[in-house]
Amino acid sequence: MQKISKIAVLTSGGDAPGMNPCIRAVVRTAIYNGLHVAGVRQGYQGLIDNNMYDMDPRSVSNILNLGGTILKTARCLPFRTDEGMETAYKNLKANGIDGLVVIGGDGTFTGALRFSKKYPDISVIGVPGTIDNDLYGSTYTLGFDTATNTVIEAIDKIRDTADAHDRLFFIEVMGRDSGAIALRAGISCGAEAILLPERDTAIEHLIENLKAGQYNKKSSSIVIVAEGDKRGAYDLAEEVRKQVKFYDIKVTILGHLQRGGSPSAFDRILGSRLGFAAVNALIKGETQKMVGLEANHIKLTDLEEALTQHQFKLEDDLMEMSDILSI
Ligand code: F6P
Repeated sequence: MQKISKIAVLTSGGDAPGMNPCIRAVVRTAIYNGLHVAGVRQGYQGLIDNNMYDMDPRSVSNILNLGGTILKTARCLPFRTDEGMETAYKNLKANGIDGLVVIGGDGTFTGALRFSKKYPDISVIGVPGTIDNDLYGSTYTLGFDTATNTVIEAIDKIRDTADAHDRLFFIEVMGRDSGAIALRAGISCGAEAILLPERDTAIEHLIENLKAGQYNKKSSSIVIVAEGDKRGAYDLAEEVRKQVKFYDIKVTILGHLQRGGSPSAFDRILGSRLGFAAVNALIKGETQKMVGLEANHIKLTDLEEALTQHQFKLEDDLMEMSDILSI
């Protein structure tokens, strides 16, 4: 079993609220166990640029409440090349680092797994950090809860003005390949329809649904569109406008405000638990694993498996419930 003496921690891909509590937990758990810790700036780019610094417990003071990531993040193309990986490896070795905690989503884990297979003398543990909630092996990913609450707050406000004007709003929420935020926000806000990448909803069906709403004396309607729905909120609104004349139709794209903000209690606790578990996994000699939370227990999943399965299997029962509750 490889004995770890110094670890590095980085955040990569889209930032997610809860990353800072996780960094804090990684740093303090490592130091408590006698390990040295380096913080890597800007994700994998920082490994290539040798942009890292030694951290101590005070480096992570007062960050539990902060959104974003104090280490900064990036989507790094050079790390996908053999040369980029080799430079990163040499920098890690030169800094005496033998364990790596990567916090991010599927793109981050794809890089981590490839790197770890090429250079197995550096142990790698992944922490699921993405608002998309789309990683197999953890019921929740860091940032999903906060982002969903942010979306709900925004949609509630839109509902007020939609109701005042008797309007129909198409609201696009994040989730490149995942309808997780759209479905949860839709249920929470009583959306009249939720369009997800995981389920085809024909435009005719949507129009019938809206007409039924009018027949049932609804004064406003909200249609939530996950970003991953290839038609997009503007094009959908344009199509519906041709056939639905009883509503004035508006479109709102919520965009990156969904990724910011102070992490919820849930994400602070999840980040703390996962960061703590990641360091303990490294100490136990684990590598190429993701730490996740299943049934409120920490679980290790092979990175390979976390990447090949899709976590967010559309819960048909939730969709059916949402349809019934929004009549
Ligand atoms: O990965 C999370 C996510 O917010 C996706 O839902 C979204 O499609 C993407 O990131 C946007 O990425 P960027 O900020 O790089 O445009």
